[in-house]
Amino acid sequence: MVTTSHKPTHQQVLQALKIASELGARYVSRRHLIPRKDETVLIVESDRLSAVKDGKRFFFHPSLAVIRKSNLDTGERDYLIESLNLNGNEEVLDCTLGLGSEAILISHFLPEGKVIGLEKSPIIKMIVEDGIKRKEKLYKWIQKAVERIEIMNADYKEFIRKTRRKFDCVYADPMFEHPSYDSSAMNSMRPFADNSAIDVEDIEIMKNIAKKRVVVKAKWNDSIFERYNFDRVMGSAKSGIGYGVIEV
Ligand SMILES: C[S@@+](CC[C@H](N)C(=O)[O-])C[C@H]1O[C@@H](n2cnc3c(N)ncnc32)[C@H](O)[C@@H]1O
Repeated sequence: MVTTSHKPTHQQVLQALKIASELGARYVSRRHLIPRKDETVLIVESDRLSAVKDGKRFFFHPSLAVIRKSNLDTGERDYLIESLNLNGNEEVLDCTLGLGSEAILISHFLPEGKVIGLEKSPIIKMIVEDGIKRKEKLYKWIQKAVERIEIMNADYKEFIRKTRRKFDCVYADPMFEHPSYDSSAMNSMRPFADNSAIDVEDIEIMKNIAKKRVVVKAKWNDSIFERYNFDRVMGSAKSGIGYGVIEV
């Protein structure tokens, strides 16, 4: 279902109707909203688009990108950025956009390049795309970074098999096999996310469409690090997260 805030503007109602038609969902005026259990409700408000399911509310917030950038500014290592080893003019395919935090961080390091972000969940794609369009609320460096991000609603497994394009780097960060629930931003996205695992064959195909490298993020105890022999895995033991790197 798609609805608006109480006392919506005409513009909000039009946006809600447009979203409902795009998603093949019902538009329900807020006054008549009685969601069934397990039903997802998208809410168009004046300052954001959010989705509510199972009592969890998901909306775009670039907090994780902000934390990562400020850690980098104080001299901390960021293993994603190190593993991509960017010159600044590359095209990076981010197969798993999610909250868009890493796409924003990568794009910051691509003043002459761009990020193409794929997201299988139409709801996550729509919320993140709406969030980055409301640029005036974002930090200046994020405003610039999001201008170089193109977002598509696509299943990367299909996209990488069909595309005739090549990308300098291909990055994938699927949902963890053994989830950790310590990020509230990630927890709110969880009900809408696709949980399919990455396969060895997916990585082989990513290699075919990458000009420089493929990077896959997973927890150290994720089976992909046993199933695939990466050239190297970078990351800190403290975070429990590794970035598997393949030089093409
Ligand atoms: C762990 S999150 C990615 C987080 C992201 N790196 C960030 O910085 O916010 C994984 C995301 O990938 C999406 N996803 C999972 N499988 C996918 C697929 N086959 N194609 C496209 N997106 C997929 C999930 O819906 C989820 O939004």
